[in-house]
Amino acid sequence: MADLDELVTAVRAASKYQQISPDLVRRVGAEELAKRPRLKEAVKATKNKLHQIGGAYLTASIDYKAALARIEEGQRRGAQAYRQALLDIMRLHASTRERLDILDTFYATTLAGLPPIHSVLDAACGLNPLARPWMPLDEDAEYRAYDIYGDMMAFLNDYFALAGVPGRAEVRDVAAAPPAEPVDLALLLKTLPVLAQIDKTAVPRLLDTLQARFLLISFPAQSLGGRPKGMVANYEAQFAAWAEGRNWQIKRFEFASELAFLVKND
Ligand SMILES: C[S@@+](CC[C@H](N)C(=O)[O-])C[C@H]1O[C@@H](n2cnc3c(N)ncnc32)[C@H](O)[C@@H]1O
Repeated sequence: MADLDELVTAVRAASKYQQISPDLVRRVGAEELAKRPRLKEAVKATKNKLHQIGGAYLTASIDYKAALARIEEGQRRGAQAYRQALLDIMRLHASTRERLDILDTFYATTLAGLPPIHSVLDAACGLNPLARPWMPLDEDAEYRAYDIYGDMMAFLNDYFALAGVPGRAEVRDVAAAPPAEPVDLALLLKTLPVLAQIDKTAVPRLLDTLQARFLLISFPAQSLGGRPKGMVANYEAQFAAWAEGRNWQIKRFEFASELAFLVKND
């Protein structure tokens, strides 16, 4: 596996990929090496794949120390400044940013009427855990967040400590190692199409493994250029295929930028 070790080192030498889970780099790298044995081409293909599934959402590198200081300052200045600081930081993740215009209604609408939620799992979370104050969860709800970036997860742990949110963020490839801890609610926000790009079995494996009473599953309804024709219908069909054969009660919600399904697992 000398080539694979070399590939992982080469990919992680680039600052853009340095913080990505080494296990994920290795897994994607092994697949690319199997398809094209020349190391240089496999390195390039691995970087492309990692860009598609993660790098594309981080249009500029984030100064997490400054971000934490900004939140701390907002917290000192009062509730409104605190929320504004969180919104400003969430804007730094291209996918989390797309939800900001609908944030006031997104969680209030989709989670309305649920029994008290004491635990939540956010898979491939991006910076969405910063939206915690907009989520109608039990005040002491335990928050588990997973994504592939080491620096992002360290920052979210600092945020949880600062905000007094009981929780933990962890670097994890949820396609290879889906979380199995029992929770009241799992958030799979715009996550499934990304995981499906890694490997076709990833989504069914994740859905089979999760132990959640409720799931909030969403899809993008907008691309940067607006709403391409058929986007919502395509994702709706994809969701229906993944839902088939599962004992799910489903409620559908359509927002300007996001199509969401609240699922009750029977
Ligand atoms: C479309 S964004 C969604 C972010 C967030 N759920 C939201 O809606 O605000 C996809 C996220 O998946 C993460 N990701 C990609 N592959 C992953 C994997 N195998 N395991 C965990 N996270 C992954 C990316 O880093 C990125 O933050």
